[in-house]
Amino acid sequence: MTDAEREAALAAIAVEVAVCKRCRLHEGRTRAVPGEGSAGTEVVFVGEGPGFNEDKQGRPFVGQAGALLDDLLKSVLWARDEVFITNVVKCRPPGNRDPEPDEIAACAPYLTRQLEVLDPALVVTLGRFSMARFNPGARIGQVHGTFRLADAESGVPRALTFAMYHPAAALHQGSLKQTLLGDMQGVPQALTEARALRVASAGAGAGEARDARNAEPTSAPGSSYAVAGPDAVALQAPEMDPPSASVSHETPALADAEFDPTAQLGLF
Ligand code: URA
Ligand code: SF4
Repeated sequence: MTDAEREAALAAIAVEVAVCKRCRLHEGRTRAVPGEGSAGTEVVFVGEGPGFNEDKQGRPFVGQAGALLDDLLKSVLWARDEVFITNVVKCRPPGNRDPEPDEIAACAPYLTRQLEVLDPALVVTLGRFSMARFNPGARIGQVHGTFRLADAESGVPRALTFAMYHPAAALHQGSLKQTLLGDMQGVPQALTEARALRVASAGAGAGEARDARNAEPTSAPGSSYAVAGPDAVALQAPEMDPPSASVSHETPALADAEFDPTAQLGLF
């Protein structure tokens, strides 16, 4: 798929989400929040569900939690428009309550389809509802700041997932902000690992399967990296490529059966 085709596919999903009535959350919404970002990215951030401001604007992470997410991205010299940001449920739970299991299940096909279109190398989960989707049974207190292979049922069986606390949690519990910032520093490294995993699982002769986005000149997704402050530079892995300038993306399905990435990376 080209980036233009990915964009069109994501837009089609967004149109469906905007009028969706598959669960009770449609009753209280002002606007559904499908998600937004780069169609050519390798990194998808998945939060829980829209809050007050997101519901008003129809965009993810635009309130206080969003400001913190922006800071986290900046701390590794990434920008919002270089990644894709979405949520487990696309409509705001009343009063910002937790989404119910049946609501998450009803909304899951949209996230699955978005992930199939984007085929990210790395999924960063924000909070436990998002983490549970990709790594059922994991406990956030134990796995935050670490990456692992996504559950095969998650829609991204070849991706790594990186678990983080939800940014909103740091608004209530100040000490978590440092934890989030510390964990975020591991995200670029996780992307490097995720890329290596793709290259390795592609094996020899994968050249033909390379994604179009790697062959075409991309619209300088890394330009914002040049303007980083000195602190941020120190935190950045020196040879780090931006999340949409991948070396290899698509891998032949054939190779997957023979390759055990868990063994290679020492994942848990
Ligand atoms: N919290 C979320 O989980 N998602 C948003 O989009 C905003 C706040
Ligand atoms: Fe549809 Fe998801 Fe909104 Fe429920 S939360 S109405 S499933 S888009």
